[in-house]
Amino acid sequence: MTAIKRIAILTSGGDAPGMNAAIRSVVLAAHHFHIDVVSFYHGYNGLIHADNINHAKLLTLNDVNNIIHRGGTILKSARCPEMLTENGLKQAAKTLTLENIDALIVIGGDGSFNGLLALKEHWHGQLIGVPGTIDNDLDGTDFTIGFATAVNTAIEAIDKIRDTADAFERIFIVELMGRHSGHITFNVGIACGAEQVLSFENFSVDDKQVKLKQLADEIKSAQENRHGSYIIVIAENLWPGGAIELAKELKVAASMDCTACVLGHIQRGGSPVPKDRLLATKMGVAAVQAIIEGKNNIMIAEQNSAICHITLEQAVEHHKVVSQQLVDAQENILALTAQNQY
Ligand code: F6P
Repeated sequence: MTAIKRIAILTSGGDAPGMNAAIRSVVLAAHHFHIDVVSFYHGYNGLIHADNINHAKLLTLNDVNNIIHRGGTILKSARCPEMLTENGLKQAAKTLTLENIDALIVIGGDGSFNGLLALKEHWHGQLIGVPGTIDNDLDGTDFTIGFATAVNTAIEAIDKIRDTADAFERIFIVELMGRHSGHITFNVGIACGAEQVLSFENFSVDDKQVKLKQLADEIKSAQENRHGSYIIVIAENLWPGGAIELAKELKVAASMDCTACVLGHIQRGGSPVPKDRLLATKMGVAAVQAIIEGKNNIMIAEQNSAICHITLEQAVEHHKVVSQQLVDAQENILALTAQNQY
């Protein structure tokens, strides 16, 4: 095994709270093993445009001091369509070679790991993914860095919406992030006691008209039997036109005044909760250890509270599905609400 001297690191795709904690952990662990960490900025753009964006910068212990609690990423992030082109990949590989990099750590989600897989054909250093996305949709790891904080942020927001909704006995439709999976929506919806959770796992747009009628009937029945608020949480990219359109359609179909609220990027920001700080720290150390052990083409994962490795191919092959137990739990709670037993 050749001695590792230089690791490169970048953050890519949607930022997630805890990315800074992971960067810090990589730098501290690498320092312990006398390895330099070279950072690139703005995701893969930093590699492709190394000459004119930001030169590779050596990260010192001082650079990662006091960042464990900060949201966002000190390395900046971006999506990078050029990583899908032959020219972009060649440029990225050239930079890594010129900088004498032994291994590249990318903190990001599935799009970022597809970039790593494409780079594999052009560069022969070690490629390591660290799962950082609020969506929690990467297969092979129980949790991704940032998910716990995003759930917490959305819960705090909806608890506040509940107060004003209760005061006015109002119907709210709250749209949550998650791209094409309902990990955030189900976890937040259940933890907030939302009357309805609408996500990819329990609704198909083909059944839109049936759902509209069902929602209208259930809301009416709930309002007749108990006064109070009614909260529907809905996953983004699910209902055509999102929460705002659903509110309009309920108004037309059932003369109901609903207030739509799109939580949006607030879910990506903020100080990471302890769970994300710990996960990020464990994964950052594991990434450095994996590099020293000669591992390549892997994503650092956590399964049943134990750190493990899975191949990058496995990580991106399927989106991780929402636990059926969670979906069933919501269905059973909903059944009670519909029968007005609660
Ligand atoms: O990947 C994380 C995520 O926050 C998704 O939940 C959301 O769909 C998307 O990023 C929004 O990305 P953008 O930065 O392009 O607005």
